[in-house]
Amino acid sequence: MAAPNPSALAMVPFVSVQDMMRIVNAIGPRQMLREICAYIEADFLRWETFDKTPRIPAHSEEGVIELMPTTDGEHYGFKYVNGHPANMARGYQTVTAFGVLAKVSNGYPVLFTEMTILTALRTAATSAMAAKYLAPKSARTMAMIGNGAQCEFQALAFQEVLGIDTVHLFDIAPKASEKAARNLADAGLKLRICASAEEAVAGADIITTCTADKQNATVLTDNMVGAGVHINAIGGDCPGKTELHRDILHRADIFVEYPAQTRIEGEIQALAADHPVTELWQVIAGQKTGRSTERQITLFDSVGFAIEDFSALRYLRDQLERTGHFVQLDLLADPDDPRDLFGMVNRAKESV
Ligand SMILES: NC(=O)c1ccc[n+]([C@@H]2O[C@H](COP(=O)([O-])OP(=O)(O)OC[C@H]3O[C@@H](n4cnc5c(N)ncnc54)[C@H](O)[C@@H]3O)[C@@H](O)[C@H]2O)c1
Repeated sequence: MAAPNPSALAMVPFVSVQDMMRIVNAIGPRQMLREICAYIEADFLRWETFDKTPRIPAHSEEGVIELMPTTDGEHYGFKYVNGHPANMARGYQTVTAFGVLAKVSNGYPVLFTEMTILTALRTAATSAMAAKYLAPKSARTMAMIGNGAQCEFQALAFQEVLGIDTVHLFDIAPKASEKAARNLADAGLKLRICASAEEAVAGADIITTCTADKQNATVLTDNMVGAGVHINAIGGDCPGKTELHRDILHRADIFVEYPAQTRIEGEIQALAADHPVTELWQVIAGQKTGRSTERQITLFDSVGFAIEDFSALRYLRDQLERTGHFVQLDLLADPDDPRDLFGMVNRAKESV
């Protein structure tokens, strides 16, 4: 006899990597970046309704594994994510992730999904959202230093949300820049592969640093950053893992996601614990000023915060009906009598 079919309550929608790729291609990466950006912005506007905590890391010699939880009282979300800069050389990805969105009222998950691709989308959407408030309005050229997994998502988000039309690519591995140029060939962007970070930043209004190295690296030195530039620093996101020379931090106005986490993980770990920073949500809510002068250097010291993943999960859940690209997973044990979990296991024996 076949085992009884799981009940409707046992089922949780699951988005596999394959389904995520179908969703991105059905909606289109640009539209998806724009729509996720709007979801993140909406959640930043209600920042105070969320429970917030620095993410929970497990560090090792090779990298870090992190849990990123948050709740708005109605839904609870978390992401499992790793960061292993040594992975690339071993044939693994630096960052992989998956996550869950659940209903607070009964604790049942409403979505289980891959988040490696979703993280790249949400990180790029967050960067572009920050740049809307911080970059010079006339910005058209971006230097993209580090041309790995996140690179093309960043380029497309800045094109879509900010109107960037030129991207200067630089990576210590020329193959990485060639890969990015190939993937972006039809994007309608002017692309230039550069031989050095100095060459990439020349003439750029926005500098995105997106490298992976488990050390305090110096991807940008002070002399490379001219007045009026916006820096989108996303690769420094762990204790002892930064990208910018300290002197840049003293010349810049620094904007962060959640200070309690960024002081541990961001570029500002190199500064005094009371160094002034502005919370991005307050700029978006109109409580604090973003860019105020043409010559100001603005720095978005991004580390990636749980609310951005929550927004991305919320967005994805809203696309399930629209796209139909998911499967139902028998994830939750659902005995006929909620008390009789053992009996359910026992009865299944008869059907083997
Ligand atoms: N802030 C966030 O929200 C967020 C989200 C996702 C990833 N990240 C971080 O962003 C970084 C990039 O992630 P990824 O998935 O693209 O990694 P990746 O390993 O795929 O790519 C990193 C690239 O950086 C290049 N690189 C390393 N050192 C360099 C240097 N000094 N100058 C120029 N290029 C250099 C490497 O050759 C590689 O191509 C990682 O450090 C990751 O932890 C941050």
